[in-house]
Amino acid sequence: MTEVTKRILVTGGTGLVGRAIQKVVADGEGQPDEEWIFVSSRDADLTSSSETKALFERHKPTHVIHLAAMVGGLFKNIRSNLDFWRTNIHINDNVLHSAHESGVQKVVSCLSTCIFPDKTTYPIDETMIHNGPPHSSNFGYSYAKRMIDVQNRGYSEQHGRRFTAVIPTNVFGPHDNFNIEDGHVLPGLIHKVYLAKQSGSALTVWGTGKPRRQFIYSLDLARLFIWVLREYDEVEPIILSVGEEDEVSIREAAEAIAEAMEFRGELVFDTTKSDGQFKKTASNAKLRRYLPGFQFTPFRKGEMGSLQETPGVLPCAISVVHPFWMRNEGGETLAHVAQGAGGFPHPWKYARSGWMGHGAIPVSWEVSPCMVVG
Ligand SMILES: NC(=O)c1ccc[n+]([C@@H]2O[C@H](COP(=O)([O-])OP(=O)(O)OC[C@H]3O[C@@H](n4cnc5c(N)ncnc54)[C@H](OP(=O)(O)O)[C@@H]3O)[C@@H](O)[C@H]2O)c1
Repeated sequence: MTEVTKRILVTGGTGLVGRAIQKVVADGEGQPDEEWIFVSSRDADLTSSSETKALFERHKPTHVIHLAAMVGGLFKNIRSNLDFWRTNIHINDNVLHSAHESGVQKVVSCLSTCIFPDKTTYPIDETMIHNGPPHSSNFGYSYAKRMIDVQNRGYSEQHGRRFTAVIPTNVFGPHDNFNIEDGHVLPGLIHKVYLAKQSGSALTVWGTGKPRRQFIYSLDLARLFIWVLREYDEVEPIILSVGEEDEVSIREAAEAIAEAMEFRGELVFDTTKSDGQFKKTASNAKLRRYLPGFQFTPFRKGEMGSLQETPGVLPCAISVVHPFWMRNEGGETLAHVAQGAGGFPHPWKYARSGWMGHGAIPVSWEVSPCMVVG
């Protein structure tokens, strides 16, 4: 039997990205000399230095993928910039310092393309993180994330540590946050299309629909995270993104989701709502130098057909429209839902993953913990 030489602790292991890494590891990407440990806030509140230290003492990781963060969409950021700053600064400092003190060999943390300067030239690359203020809507989250890069350089220079970070664009996939007020744009739109279909009303998209975004499928990101952990040796961060040519406008994203969910109603743009940063087009040239052949799962409208065959958030949402029943991982029935019952059943709130079916035929699906209406 192969001896385990790498103990990989994944903070934020129950979130959108953490769940994707769990799936990719379980589906065969894990190696025999690796033990993967996925933790959430139930295992330790990482804003607490003592709980973080105890977590590291308990698991004795050799490697860390650090995902845990206070995360949210545009409108949650606008409301809570101070909370984003304080929570994330505490989490990041506790995790990086505990990793240093316990002799962790490598840490890969997670930044985001939304932390880049607002006024900038395009495409944005890894060298430009600190070149100017971020967009005012999410300055708390952005500055806290930028400080991870500062700390990585410090731990490298002063202590020779291999602490680095990746910079993903907007992520989508199973286990996303479907809350309309607080979640990210795609799951929010999916939820709104679901409600608009139920009530026969128009689909109201917040903002002008003109801002542009690059979206990365969470399972693609998971594979890239594992590559960075094993192969990428720089302290400087690396952007993990689809190409510049794959950027889509919010209008195009809304139209694609409406089409995939067979919504035939009107699209209305509520221009009283903020657009956030207009665009943050990122270059994946550095990633392409390392991995020229990496295939991304496509998002574009013309490829929605193939997306519907892929287990991901969009086909999930389509399955959601007429569920008859759902069960948890143990096979226990959590809810029976008549077609058109008018809203998500509350037990969904408590289900972290499971399966559900149309009549007797189960469809492959996992339930998002955040898929709650109201
Ligand atoms: N989603 C995106 O579009 C996107 C884009 C770029 C970068 N990122 C970055 O990717 C990383 C993962 O994001 P995500 O979308 O997967 O987030 P998510 O779905 O909101 O999950 C957040 C994770 O962090 C954990 N967590 C939050 N506060 C914690 C605390 N005080 N102590 C311990 N654990 C805590 C949560 O645990 P519980 O389940 O127990 O709450 C959960 O596992 C984050 O660093 C984020 O900044 C995300």
